[in-house]
Amino acid sequence: MQNETIVVIDFGGQYNQLIARRVREANVYCVVIPYTKSLEEIKAFAPKGIIFTGGPNSVYDKEAPKIDPGVFSLGIPVLGICYGAQMMSMMLGGNVQQANTREYGVVDVSLSESPLFKDIDPKNECLMSHTDKIEEVPEGFVVIGKTAHCPVAAFQDSKRNFYGVQFHPEVNHTPFGSRMIRNFLFEVCGCSGDWTMADYAKNYIVSAREKIGDKKVLCALSGGVDSSVAAILLSKAVGKQLVCIFVDHGLLRKNEGDEVEKVFRDQFDINLIRVNCEERFLSRLAGVEEPEEKRKIIGEEFIRVFEEEAKKIGRVDYLVQGTIYPDVIESGAGDASVIKSHHNVGGLPDYVDFKEIIEPLRNLFKDEVRKLGTELGIPEQLVWRQPFPGPGLAIRCIGDITKERLEILKDADFIFREEIAKAGLQREINQYFAVVTNMRSVGVMGDERTYDYTIALRAVTTTDFMTGEWARIPYDVLDVVSRRIVNEVKYVNRIVYDITSKPPSTIEWE
Ligand code: XMP
Repeated sequence: MQNETIVVIDFGGQYNQLIARRVREANVYCVVIPYTKSLEEIKAFAPKGIIFTGGPNSVYDKEAPKIDPGVFSLGIPVLGICYGAQMMSMMLGGNVQQANTREYGVVDVSLSESPLFKDIDPKNECLMSHTDKIEEVPEGFVVIGKTAHCPVAAFQDSKRNFYGVQFHPEVNHTPFGSRMIRNFLFEVCGCSGDWTMADYAKNYIVSAREKIGDKKVLCALSGGVDSSVAAILLSKAVGKQLVCIFVDHGLLRKNEGDEVEKVFRDQFDINLIRVNCEERFLSRLAGVEEPEEKRKIIGEEFIRVFEEEAKKIGRVDYLVQGTIYPDVIESGAGDASVIKSHHNVGGLPDYVDFKEIIEPLRNLFKDEVRKLGTELGIPEQLVWRQPFPGPGLAIRCIGDITKERLEILKDADFIFREEIAKAGLQREINQYFAVVTNMRSVGVMGDERTYDYTIALRAVTTTDFMTGEWARIPYDVLDVVSRRIVNEVKYVNRIVYDITSKPPSTIEWE
C-alpha cells in the first residue's frame, strides 16, 4: 500500500530538497515534482498536502512559472514558501509588489495564532531571501506573520487550508521551521507520520524490479557508504542480475578490501568481482610526486580496469551509481575554481556499454543514506564509514608512493582509528586519518640515533566537508596514539597534529 503522500512542487529554489527532507524527517512520504506536471499527474498521487517551493523568478517575469490553477479547487491543503507564497497570493487575487532590492538574512518575526504556529514562540527569527513581497493578501486570507520589512511574512485561509510564508522554514536559520512544517503536515493535512526508511526501501525495491525486469545491472563498488547502499538496494531488487565490480587499487585502508568483500559475498551473497590490482597502480604511480598527477593517473587507471572487467561481462542494460543529493548540488556548482580534481567512482558512463544510469540515492542526504543502509542490514562499520577519497591513501602519502611507505601509513592510520573508537569519538569527529609525510628527522630510540619519517594526524569536524574545523581531540588520546604509533610502526619517530582549519587548508593533504 502506498503511504500518505505530500507533493512538493518545485519552482527552482535552492532549498527544495531540504523541504523534502524535512517532510521525510517527520516520517511522511513525499515526492518532489517539477511545476510543469499536469493537474492530473498531481492528482494521481492522491496527496494529503501540497507544498510550493521557492524559486529564483519574480512573479512578474514573462516566463514566471505558474501552477495549474485547478490545484486550488482540489480541496487539498497548500503551503506556499517564498516564491510559492507570492505566486499563490497573485493567482488568488492578492497584491505582490515588485521590488529592486533583495532582503536577505535572519530577521525578527512576530507570529499570530495559527495551526501552522502551534507550540511556537510568537516572537521568533526567520531567514528571508526575497526581492518581491506580498503587499495585500487575497480575499479570505488573513495575515499571521510580520517582520519590520515585510507586512505579510505569513498568511492563511484556514477554511480552504491555504498557507503562505515569505521566509524559509526549511533551513536551520529559521529555528521554528521544522516545527512549522510538522504543524502543516499533522495539524493541517492530518498526516499520521507512519512512513519510514524501511518503506522507502520496500517501495524502491518493488519499482526497481518492475523497471529492470530480467535485464543486467552493473555497479562500480568502492566500498564507501553510498555505492554500498545503492548496490545492496539493487541486489535486493534483482538478485544475481546485478554484478558488482570492486577495483581494489591497493590504496585502501588496512584490511578494508577484505572487509568489503566479506560483507558483500558472505552476508549479501552478491555477484562480486574483486579485481586486485595493487601492483598495476603502484607501478603507474612510481616516481610521481605531484598530487594532481597522482589523481589523474588513478582516475584513468580506475576507469581502464573497470572497462576491461565490464567488457568481459558483455552488454549490460543499467549502470548503478551511488550519487547522493549533495553530489548533485556540488556538481552543479558552476565555474568555481578547481582546488582538487575529485575522482569519484561515479564518472564512468562514457566507457561502458549500457542503456541507462540508475541512481537510487539521488534525492537523499548522507544521514538518510546511512539510515537506509541500517534498514537494509548493512553492518555498522560500513554504514558509518567516514568519507574516503577515490584516490585513497595515495593522497595521504606525500611525495613518492612506495609499498613500504604505504604500509607505514596503513599501520599508523589503523592505530589512530582504533584509539579514536576506544575514546568514543568516532561519531563526533567527521573525518580523521594519518598522513605519512616525506619528511624525515632525527630521533633517539634506546641509545640509538634514528632518522625516520614523520606521521601527521588529521582530524576535522564539519557538516558539509566544504569547510571544517580541526578537531579538539583530548591530549590524553593524542598522547596514546603518538606513543603507540612510534612504538608499533617501524620507521616512524615523530608525530605531529594538524591544527589548521579549512579554509585555508584542505582536509586531505594533497
Ligand atoms: P578536501 O581535501 O578537498 O576534501 O578538503 C573534502 C572532502 O572530499 C574528500 N575528497 C575526495 N573524495 N574523491 C572523493 O571521492 C576525491 O578525489 C577526493 N578528494 C578529497 C575528502 O576526503 C574530504 O572528505
